[in-house]
Amino acid sequence: MTPERPPGERTIALVGLMGVGKSTIGRRLAQALDLPFRDADQEIEAAAGRSIPEIFAERGEAEFRAGERRVIGRLLQEPRHVLATGGGAFMDPQTRELMKQRAVTVWLKAELDVLVRRVGRKTTRPLLVGKDARAVLQELMERRYPVYAEADITIMTDDRPATAAVDAILAALAARLEPAVG
Ligand code: S3P
Repeated sequence: MTPERPPGERTIALVGLMGVGKSTIGRRLAQALDLPFRDADQEIEAAAGRSIPEIFAERGEAEFRAGERRVIGRLLQEPRHVLATGGGAFMDPQTRELMKQRAVTVWLKAELDVLVRRVGRKTTRPLLVGKDARAVLQELMERRYPVYAEADITIMTDDRPATAAVDAILAALAARLEPAVG
C-alpha cells in the first residue's frame, strides 16, 4: 500500500448524486488548480471496452461496482488530480475507505428539484432508465446522503453556476490547509 500523502498533495475526489454536476464542476476545478481531470465513469468504460449501460445490462451492477472499485483504486495511485466519481462509488465500503485514505473528498449536494431538472427526462443512466427519476433520486437521497456526509467537505451547489461551486471548493480546501490559530 502506498503511504498516505499530506492533504495538500492528495487527489480531490468529488462525490454526489447523478445530475449534481460532478464532471462539469470537476473539470473547472481542475483548470483552476492546474491539475489533470479524470472521470471515473469514463475510465471504467475505457477499461471494460463497453458503455456503462452495457456493463449493467451484460454483467450486472455487482460487476460494475467491482470494476469501479478497481479503477478508482488505480486512479488514486496516480499523481494528484481532480477525480469525478459515479454517484454510487462512495457507497461501496471498500471504495469509500480508499477514497478517505488517499483523497480529499468533496460532496456536491443539491435539492431534489434541482437534481430532477438536471438529469432530464431522457437518460442513459441505467438506474433511471424507464423509471420515475424523481422517485429514484428521492430514494437514493434518503439512502446515500447520510453516507455522502462522511466526505471531508460538503458544498451546496443548487442552482448556482459551476464557477460558484468551484470558488466554494477552493475556499474550503484553503481553509483546511490553514494552520489552526490560537
Ligand atoms: C450511478 C451513477 C452514474 C454511474 C452509474 C451508477 C449511481 O454516474 O456511475 O450509472 O449509482 O448513482 P454519475 O453519478 O456520474 O451519473
